[in-house]
Amino acid sequence: MRAQATEQTVVAETGGAAEPPTHIGIIMDGNGRWAVARGLPRSEGHRRGVEAVRRTVDAAARLGVRYLTLFSFSSENWARPPAEVDFLLGLLRIFIRRDLAKLHSQGVRVRMIGNRVGLPRDIAELIRQAEDQTDGNAGLQLFVAFNYGGREEMVRAVRKVAAEAISGELSPDAIDETTIARHLDTADVPDPDMIIRTSGEMRLSNFLLWQSAYAELVFVPIYWPDFDGAALQSAIDQFSSRSRRYGGVAG
Ligand code: IPE
Ligand code: IPE
Ligand code: MG
Repeated sequence: MRAQATEQTVVAETGGAAEPPTHIGIIMDGNGRWAVARGLPRSEGHRRGVEAVRRTVDAAARLGVRYLTLFSFSSENWARPPAEVDFLLGLLRIFIRRDLAKLHSQGVRVRMIGNRVGLPRDIAELIRQAEDQTDGNAGLQLFVAFNYGGREEMVRAVRKVAAEAISGELSPDAIDETTIARHLDTADVPDPDMIIRTSGEMRLSNFLLWQSAYAELVFVPIYWPDFDGAALQSAIDQFSSRSRRYGGVAG
């Protein structure tokens, strides 16, 4: 009886909606504006943004999303004032230290995408520990895009492909879309079905450029610290109403 009641609750919460997208990417934007609108320092917006990350990971796992990629720090965000960059690096440290045990117990598998070169050594080590500890988990696959830029990722991929071509492992004629995809940080990860951006901005800001070729884009007019399970559900509902044609005609 108990299991049945739980199942009914889940159906009620999701409105009995269709399957959620397999892979959701989120551009978590608007922390600074959330804070400034309240007369608070931008750092407070980032701190509250971490709470939104926790709510969103829980909701995604509960709704049965398989892959969630969160854009946390872009390869361009180093251009911010050093104090803000330091604060954001500090938040990543705190998040991994405080939340890893819970994520692991929920069966979440954590991976990082982005350039690890140039990251502070202790952060690179924390990320490695999080990946190692959760590697066998079969629940939500959580990708943290940190020091990530789509163009920078493609440059690193092309360098690897070029090295293989020079060494004779790979013939230039054999290079196809699969070759490129295999050398990206997201090798083995299905392309995102939906990209959500909060804060009202309508751009990708260098997020998953290759992978989002056919992603449904959903722009949400709230700042990231206000994002929650209901906002995620509403984005999924929008996704469900879209007609994906991949260049073909509606079936
Ligand atoms: C998103 O919020 C967090 C990061 C980019 C790290 P912002 O810090 O970009 O907030 P806004 O866009 O300035 O409001
Ligand atoms: C994109 O947001 C990066 C992250 C959310 C981590 P930005 O705030 O850096 O993007 P722009 O500068 O508005 O394009
Ligand atoms: Mg922003």
